[in-house]
Amino acid sequence: MSSDVTPALAVVEAWLGGRRPAVALVLGSGLGGLAERLDDVDRLPYGRIPGFPGTMLPGHAGELVAGVLGDRPVLCQSGRFHAYEGHGQATVTLPCRLFAALGIGTVILTNAAGGIRRSFAPGTLMCIADQVNLTWANPLVGALVPGDIRFPDMSAPFDAELIALAHRVAGAGGVRLEDGVYGGVLGPSYETPAEVRMLERLGADAVGMSTIAEVIALRAQGLRCLGLSTITNRAAGLSLARLSHTDVMATARAAGAALGRLVEGVVAGLRAREAGAL
Ligand code: HPA
Repeated sequence: MSSDVTPALAVVEAWLGGRRPAVALVLGSGLGGLAERLDDVDRLPYGRIPGFPGTMLPGHAGELVAGVLGDRPVLCQSGRFHAYEGHGQATVTLPCRLFAALGIGTVILTNAAGGIRRSFAPGTLMCIADQVNLTWANPLVGALVPGDIRFPDMSAPFDAELIALAHRVAGAGGVRLEDGVYGGVLGPSYETPAEVRMLERLGADAVGMSTIAEVIALRAQGLRCLGLSTITNRAAGLSLARLSHTDVMATARAAGAALGRLVEGVVAGLRAREAGAL
């Protein structure tokens, strides 16, 4: 699988027509409901995009959704490709490379994650302040992709201005938003309690199976990232409950409305900032 987005770009540009989204939203497990907040919607199934795998996990849509959110044209990636499905890093990050090729400058990535910090009960929203790559993979390995920085600086993977904006929007809306470090693992098995203790010692406040590679590829192309996690469960060993994907999805969906309001507020805030109002 290659990182060449040229064939995908041709199809997606033709589909977008006159739409010029400046912001992309990556919708995580159970968070697809966010796409329902969009007006003026157009959908493009992955099966029609060259290089995009057409079949998805149950509960994960597989389509790009173009629409208007907070008065602004956005592009949603509804359904992502995970390394645990057997996808290579190039496929996992192909949508990110497409966003860059489309001239999108800002990407809001959402995901479901297990809470490691003890105060993170299910339903908590976490703004990703930083990430720890524990997937033993990096999407930049190999020949340099055109437009990539070979050795991208990762001292601020998530944009400080976007983080501040997210906190302002959350504060104004009465939504509790915690900052935390996202530990990314390969999966698909959930962690053992010993692994969660290890992750805690390594500085992770939450653990999940996505996002890491995408953020690396986006930063290599110079795009700004905001990461928002929905804490769907306490990580293994931190409660008596056993972990199940069904419960994770149900909690993600239940928290979806608050996350949707937050994302919409951030998108609207970006627009105000560009207009010089912030
Ligand atoms: N571990 C890893 N990934 C996850 C979890 C978890 O506990 N919850 C949701 N995604």
